[in-house]
Amino acid sequence: MKWTRKDFLDIRSLSREELEIVLDTARAFKDIIQRPIKKVPSLRGKTAVNLFIEPSTRTRVSFELAAKRLSADVVAVAQEGSSFKKGETLKDTALNLQALKADYIIIRHPAAGAAQFLAERLGAHVVNAGDGAHEHPTQAMLDTFTIREKLGVVSGKHVLIVGDILYSRVARSDIWSLTKLGAKVTLVGPTTLLPDCFREMGVGVTHDLDSVLPSADVVNLLRIQHERQSRAAFPSLGEYVSIYGLSRERFRRCKPDVLIMHPGPINRGVEIESELADGDNSVILQQVTNGLAVRMAVLYLLGGGQSEAL
Ligand code: CP
Repeated sequence: MKWTRKDFLDIRSLSREELEIVLDTARAFKDIIQRPIKKVPSLRGKTAVNLFIEPSTRTRVSFELAAKRLSADVVAVAQEGSSFKKGETLKDTALNLQALKADYIIIRHPAAGAAQFLAERLGAHVVNAGDGAHEHPTQAMLDTFTIREKLGVVSGKHVLIVGDILYSRVARSDIWSLTKLGAKVTLVGPTTLLPDCFREMGVGVTHDLDSVLPSADVVNLLRIQHERQSRAAFPSLGEYVSIYGLSRERFRRCKPDVLIMHPGPINRGVEIESELADGDNSVILQQVTNGLAVRMAVLYLLGGGQSEAL
């Protein structure tokens, strides 16, 4: 099977085979980024625009590096300093970037559906770098890649996703990716951040972290997204930490080789104790490195590259 899509917008609409193409291509790029010379000419002459209308460190920098490693020219546009501040619409902004011959628009936006909106209106490749609480598809690919790299397979592994599920685009994309590849996924969080309707996505739901930790192969902790919450979802941060924070005490319930993951940015001392975030079971920084390989793979495939050619 070959990659045929113009855009990379979500995980929900991708088949298992398409996910495997991205993962296999990222595997090849993981080797390339560890060489002394990390650059390949695949996107020479192409231009990528990073259009980030929300803060980002990992995603923004890794997309920029990914495009540069593929020899594309890269331009960054942020809300501050752009004509968004003068009231220019997203559509007009994107059409102007396309008029400047952008081949890729990589967009992070607070509105769910923003990337799809542009993809339907532009000839350029559109990549979703996170849209509201909808999806963060390259995060899911790098999370899935990391699990496959560390555990050998994804199928049959038990993955906990813990915390602010309701407002998390990472959770939604991870659920689609991991379940399509055969993992058992259990969501864990307070009722206010984890409504029962998530069961419809084919996952388990529990509000009792301690009961599921012993069977977990992976514990993926999510940040509380205060910026998306209109009211407090729990009485106090201290109460949240005591019930859902991964402490050293709670970690004793886990399998010795459990993988600890977090998409970042971490709230140290809230969703995870600092010592565990930096400890032997943590693959948090390896996720970041894998994000570069995954984003190179996505840009390469959208541009017509095939993994056999690497
Ligand atoms: N994981 C993630 O999306 O991090 P950034 O917000 O820093 O890009």
